[in-house]
Amino acid sequence: MYEKLEQSAKYIQAIHTSTPKVGVILGSGLGAFVEKIENPTIIPYLDIPNFKKTNVEGHEGRLIIGKIENTEIAVLQGRIHAYEGHAMEEVVFPTRLLATLGIESLILTNAAGGVNLEFSPGDIILIDDHINLTGKNPLIGPNNSEFGPRFPDMSHAYHPEIKEAFVESAKKLGTEIKSGVYAGLLGPTYETPSEIKMLRTLGADMVGMSTVPESIAANHLGIKVGGLSCITNMAAGIKNETLKHEDIKEQALKVMEYFSSLLKNTIIRLGVED
Ligand code: HPA
Repeated sequence: MYEKLEQSAKYIQAIHTSTPKVGVILGSGLGAFVEKIENPTIIPYLDIPNFKKTNVEGHEGRLIIGKIENTEIAVLQGRIHAYEGHAMEEVVFPTRLLATLGIESLILTNAAGGVNLEFSPGDIILIDDHINLTGKNPLIGPNNSEFGPRFPDMSHAYHPEIKEAFVESAKKLGTEIKSGVYAGLLGPTYETPSEIKMLRTLGADMVGMSTVPESIAANHLGIKVGGLSCITNMAAGIKNETLKHEDIKEQALKVMEYFSSLLKNTIIRLGVED
């Protein structure tokens, strides 16, 4: 794994020499954020050695490295999901690759179903914490101590500094950001109404099929993680509607402007700190 990461990183570093400080993984329908990146170097996943391509519609499959004001960033436009049949190790390969490139912070974004009845489609929610309900973990197997400890602490899986940066950025945009707990399931089915009731009882505010493995792998590596969920729909059983991936992508597109501004402002803040 380590050699593979080194090989992939070398390929990227030969094309783009500077070191990114912040990494971003963009969820379903949220790819348009890349328009905010200045002087972008665009590398299709297919060109990167050892990189698996994503097959999900709404996920582009490109690495974009560039700047947001003075902050160097590396953005993965499209992610790999476990429900596509990839092993968890493959799912977190892109996260570990960003770490090999040198990122210090990682912002995970996703489209999610609203479980909290006070949320509405179109809300951008700050991820306060997660509940891993995938039944899997990317760190299963022998521990690679070059990555991190055998039993990583997850008390601050979503780092207070990044949360603060999001709260302040939202204020600057004249808004107040709500926060919530993200329940990560394996998918690919959307949940049943009973499962959503269960998730609410467990303390979840939103539900999705990504983010958790990446957050675990990044925490293992000692990278500060932040997260945003775009509520694209109310979860199953809350409204009398069927859930469709096309509608979810469309809803994500509607909030792109705010989502992109919030992310941009937060990245600028993270670049200014320290
Ligand atoms: N459930 C799971 N994943 C999702 C949903 C949902 O309702 N909406 C967007 N991603």
